Amino acid sequence: MNGTEALRTEHREIKIMLKVCNISADRIQKGNLAELDTIAKAVDFFKDFTDGCHHKKEEDILFPMLLEKGNPEQDASISAMLDEHVQGRKLAKLINKRLGEVQNGAGDTALLASSITDYTTLLEKHIAKEDSALFTIAEGILNPDEQQQLYEAFELLEAEEIGAGVHEKFHHMIHELAHKYQLMK
Ligand SMILES: [Fe+2]
Ligand SMILES: [Fe+2]
Repeated sequence: MNGTEALRTEHREIKIMLKVCNISADRIQKGNLAELDTIAKAVDFFKDFTDGCHHKKEEDILFPMLLEKGNPEQDASISAMLDEHVQGRKLAKLINKRLGEVQNGAGDTALLASSITDYTTLLEKHIAKEDSALFTIAEGILNPDEQQQLYEAFELLEAEEIGAGVHEKFHHMIHELAHKYQLMK
């Protein structure tokens, strides 16, 4: 596996969680509070995996490597991707806040559901743009050695900043949720 393939694989995992959240938000909107547990798991996943691991790999490793190449089309795309990471972070915090309010009996389920779908809509579009545009440009610019360096730097980041076993824990969680929500391929 090379660097961009590793990120594309993570996109597939994140997209499963986004689909789970869309189903869950719809049920919460209809008053099914048993779904709050799934959203609590999703909030952890978005904070620790999507933002803490995947976006960190892009922001700290991939984007700087691409910016060194100085391609104007790609540089504009990176700036847009960074903005969307910031928006995603804010929305994930909002979901967490509204989830807490609903769990404490003082929240609004419609507001919680709408913040979840705002987040999933943003991330679905963000991932589609990276997969179809930025990563495709990157794959044209980076040579096999650079792709290998990228992959190794991602592995190191995971080991040093996220810790052993965390990716596997989330991988297992995604598998269980995909099964529960009948999203198995
Ligand atoms: Fe991204
Ligand atoms: Fe990404």
